[in-house]
Formats: sequence, C-alpha cells, structure tokens
Amino acid sequence: MKGTVIDGMAAYEALVKEARVDRPGFWARLAREHLVWHRPFTRVLDDSNAPFFKWFDDGLLNASYNCLDRHLYNGNAEKHAIVFEADDGTITSITYRQLHARVCKVANALRGRGVGAGDRVMIYLPMSIEGVVAMQACARIGAVHSVVFGGFSAKSLHERMVDVGAVAIITADEQKRGGKSLPLKSIVDEALAMDGTDGVHTVIVYQRTGGTIVWNPPRDCWLHELEDAQPDTCEPEWVEADHPLFVLYTSGSTGTPKGVQHSTAGYLLWSAVTMHWTFDIRPDDVFWCTADIGWITGHSYICYGPTAVGATQLIFEGVPTWPNAGRFWEMIAHHRVSIFYTAPTAIRSLIKASEADSTVHPRRFELGSLRMLGTVGEPINPSAWEWYAREVGGGRCPVLDTFWQTETGGHMITPLPGATPLVPGSCTLPLPGIEAAIVDETGSELPNGQGGLLVIKHPWPSMLRTIWGNPERFRHGYYPPELGGGLYLAGDGAIRDPETGYFTITGRIDDVLNVSGHRMGTMEIESALTSHPLVAEAAVVGRPDETIGEAIVAFVVLKGPRPAPEDAKNIAEQLRAWVGKEIGPIAKPKEIRFGESMPKTRSGKVVRRLLRAVAKGESIAQDMSTVENPAVLQQFSHRA
Ligand code: PRX
Repeated sequence: MKGTVIDGMAAYEALVKEARVDRPGFWARLAREHLVWHRPFTRVLDDSNAPFFKWFDDGLLNASYNCLDRHLYNGNAEKHAIVFEADDGTITSITYRQLHARVCKVANALRGRGVGAGDRVMIYLPMSIEGVVAMQACARIGAVHSVVFGGFSAKSLHERMVDVGAVAIITADEQKRGGKSLPLKSIVDEALAMDGTDGVHTVIVYQRTGGTIVWNPPRDCWLHELEDAQPDTCEPEWVEADHPLFVLYTSGSTGTPKGVQHSTAGYLLWSAVTMHWTFDIRPDDVFWCTADIGWITGHSYICYGPTAVGATQLIFEGVPTWPNAGRFWEMIAHHRVSIFYTAPTAIRSLIKASEADSTVHPRRFELGSLRMLGTVGEPINPSAWEWYAREVGGGRCPVLDTFWQTETGGHMITPLPGATPLVPGSCTLPLPGIEAAIVDETGSELPNGQGGLLVIKHPWPSMLRTIWGNPERFRHGYYPPELGGGLYLAGDGAIRDPETGYFTITGRIDDVLNVSGHRMGTMEIESALTSHPLVAEAAVVGRPDETIGEAIVAFVVLKGPRPAPEDAKNIAEQLRAWVGKEIGPIAKPKEIRFGESMPKTRSGKVVRRLLRAVAKGESIAQDMSTVENPAVLQQFSHRA
C-alpha cells in the first residue's frame, strides 16, 4: 500500500526519532496541527505533580467546536457526517451542518435546564445519531458525559450515576436490537428509584420506538420537543485543555468499576491523530467502527475521532447476526465502506456462521470498497487474522491489530498501513511518541523474547488523568510503587519478538476477564452472585474460549447443601438470571458449578489457579499440599 500518511518504515522511524529527541516539541507540533485552539497553549507538559500530568494546560478550546464548527468553514459542511442504518435496515443520514445544528439545539436545551460546565450528564442510549448528538452537546457546554452501555442493568447504571454525581440523564424510550424492542427508560426509572439520586433533576428521552413508558414531569422531557424550542447555534464553552471531557467506567480487578477520567485536548488530539496515522483516513472514505458508544472504542472512533477529521462514518443500530450473519458484509457492500474496524469476537463468530451457511460467507458480497481492516479489544488468533485478511480484505487490505485501553484514550501499539510489515497475531510496534516496554515485577526491563508486564515509559497526552473521585486508586493502580512509580502499568502481559521487537499481548495479568472483547472484573461477578440469598461463597474465573475469547465460569457454594444434580441446573439458571439483572446480560456466567466448600489454603485464600485448571477441564497435577480441602475440586469438576 503506497501513499499512506506515514509512507514506509523510514517515515515511521523519523517520527519515532522526532518524539525521542524533543518530546514536548513533538506533542506541541501535533497539538497545533490537529486541534483548533481558542487560546493557544504556552506550556506542553506539567509533570510537577506526577503521575497527575497536565498537558497544554493553559490553552483553551472546545471539543465540539473542533469536531463540528471547523467543518462549516472548510468545505465539509454539506458532507455526510453520519450515515445511520437502523436495526430494520432504514437508513438516515446527517451532514456536518445538520449535526452541528442538532448539537447546538441540545446544548442550548441542557443549558436551559440548568446544566453547566463541569456538571455530569449520564448517557444511556442505543447506537444512534442521537448518541453522538448527546455526547457532543455535553462537550459543547463543558458538561462531563458519562456514557453507560445500554446492556447494563439498573443497578450498574445506578452505581455509576451515584459515583459520578449526575445531574441529568439522556436516554431513549427503548432500543431495537435483532428485531426486538428492549427497555431503556424504564431501567433509568428503576435506577432513579434507588437511593442517592436526588441530584438528577432532568431526564431527556429520545423517542426511538414509541413504546409505552412511565412519564414523570417535570423531570422527564422529550428530546424532540426540547430541540424544537431551541435555536440552532450555541456559543461553545471554552474550557481549559485538561477540563474533563468524560468519565467512562471500566472494570478493574478489585472493587467497583472505576471512572476513567479523560481530558479535552490530549484525548481529542490522539483520537484525531490516530484517525490519520492508523487508518490513513481520506476525504472520500466511508469509515465504520462497529463498537458501541458505551465503550471507549465508540468514544474515540465514533463520537470524536471521525468527526474531528471530518470523515463520513456509518453507525449501525443492530447486531451482526440479524436478520442473518451476512449483515456486516451486506452493509459494507451497500454503503461502500472503505475502513472497517471490529472486534476479534465478531470475526470469529462470523467465521463460524459462514462455515455453517455459505450464503452469509463474505465471498458472496461485493467488498471491493474496503481498503483497511482493523481489530480491537482482545488478542486476535492468527487463523482468524488470516481469514479476515483473505476473505474480507480480499488479500489487499492490511489488518491493523490495534492494542489500547479505556485508559489510554486511543491506539498505543498498532501497525501502520503502508509502513509496518504485518505479522498475524501481533499488534507490532508502538505509535510514535509512545514508548512501550516489557518489565519484570521490580520494573527492570526484560530482553526481547522474555514475557513480562507491559508498561509505558513516558506520559502521553491522551492518557487518563485520574480515576473519578479516587486519585489514590489511579496512582496505585497505574503507577505502582513496586515498579518504581514512574511506569504506567497497562495490566497486560506481553512479549517482544527477538528479531523484530514486535509486541504480542498475552492477556491480562490481573483478575480482569475479557469476554467477547468486554472487560469484566471477576470480583464484580462474585459480589453479584454472593448477594443472592441462596449463595454463601462464589469464585469466578475465565476459561479460554474459541469464539468469545474467555468464558465466565463461576464456582458456587450454597448456604444449604450442595444441590442434587437434578436441582443444580435449575439453580444455576436462577443465578445466571440474577447476575444478568444485577450487572447486565454480558456478565452472565457461561457455566456454574457447585461444591460443598471453596478450595482454600490454610490461611483461607481461594486457590484460583486450581479453579482455573478445573474450569479448563485439566486433570489437576499441580501441587495441592497447601490446599485445605482438595476433595471439593472433584465436585467442582462436574458441570451443573
Ligand atoms: O487486555 C487488553 C485488551 O483489552 C483491554 C482493554 O479493554 P478496554 O479498556 O475495555 O478497551 C478495549 C478497547 C480499546 C486491554 O488491557 N485488548 C485491547 N486491544 C487488544 C487487546 N488485547 C490484545 N490485542 C489487542 N489489540
């Protein structure tokens, strides 16, 4: 592939060198070239209170101005910003001028309801143009959005709402997925009926399906009525570079989900730069990222990145397997998608589907518009990578295995089209400006070929600024003293190829599971299980799964006796439903197994390594001398 924005390895090396030689100068150049500043910054990095770094901190800007207004004057005003395909196939589109107008109206409406800079607004919406409008409207007035994935339960929504201290919620009556209508507003009502939500004075409802909902005036108001009453211009709130743009909750290995706080300038800068570097975005591209706006990928590569660079993007409401597993390929063909970005889990499930039914095989569709393929969220196995490159990309499109995290804001380690020689299963090399390394438990760098902990050596602008309301959790979790306090700990294991120095991510080193590319804390699922009246103890582990990456396996001890085999299935089903209600369907264990007690050491610690082995169906050859009650492992090896 020739003529990409970073054309060839020499161009990549030159940027890497530029960043190494003058790090502040490099970032300042990018920030001046890619962002529109209301007041230019004079300082680049303030590291006087590390690891609470500040970037470009005396500059003033507005994220929504950068994503929308600048396109009104650069020839993009009548260009499609978003083409939306609904679950039922209905297509709507919106130009940059129209998107700007809608965002201004909603921003005015929020201001009219008393929402101002720094206030937190929850967003609990389906995939929609309205999702982007809501996020950008918050950004326009300097309000901090906190988007919650529409598959999370009332309890999860409530927990996040209280932690972030929300004053308003933007939701929809219902969402449509796979031909079904699913509730949203009633879940918001349920969450608001719980304690600690008195601060929420406004619920704005997007009418998606027209389904029946309970209405509570004056708190509840229709989005379309608010928009109708507002002018289509809105003076942006000029905020300081590090003003929080959003808080997005993600799972850690301990405790409740943590609110990852991102800044305005540093975050937006990297979303825009990586659209150019990683995806080589061009004016006539049709970009499609299949993530949900409830996850970081939907923030960076739907709401902010594509709009910051004035791209046309496709947004899809539904699911890849409805009405059949050819939906993605049909949509790529229909909309002439040129850059396609999805998760390995989706690829693996579509491989399976196309093996079972040849009519949904990508070969049956006209995919000649594609020029770039990306993946994100979990390791991609070489065979799925090769299938994706061959069957979807027709052997012409590079597969960009992008490694990054909620906390990093944008891509970190990824191949660059037209530059990096590709190796299936490897995310290859860090982006210019990002210095990744592999270290041991004391923070000493390991030679290539030796696996260890993935760290990032220097701060970078799009890194999280803190954990909302919990700076100590930020400091300890990401800059642990054991590693010397100066290295960002990603939480993943990795290894570098001895010859090429390429990185391969080997998976999480903590108790975080990656289920279908969704991050789940084992502890969250355990707490949900133990809150069920029948359950005394629970331990959750991940089992490698061919399609979804990791499957959740729960080991449960009931308050009563271990259930007889004929009852076990029924109780397991009850517990799965319970977890679905407590957290959301994505957290439901695939399997639940029952034992009389937990395998523990004499000091009372659950022996997870043994449970992991049992979950995999391995015969236990490991040392069991420290286990108090080894016999229960036998019980746990039976599936309910
Ligand atoms: O374990 C890594 C995995 O996903 C984790 C981050 O999850 P989350 O914050 O939800 O963000 C997902 C989307 C950016 C990482 O710690 N991960 C992400 N991308 C890759 C990956 N593992 C392997 N290869 C990747 N390309």
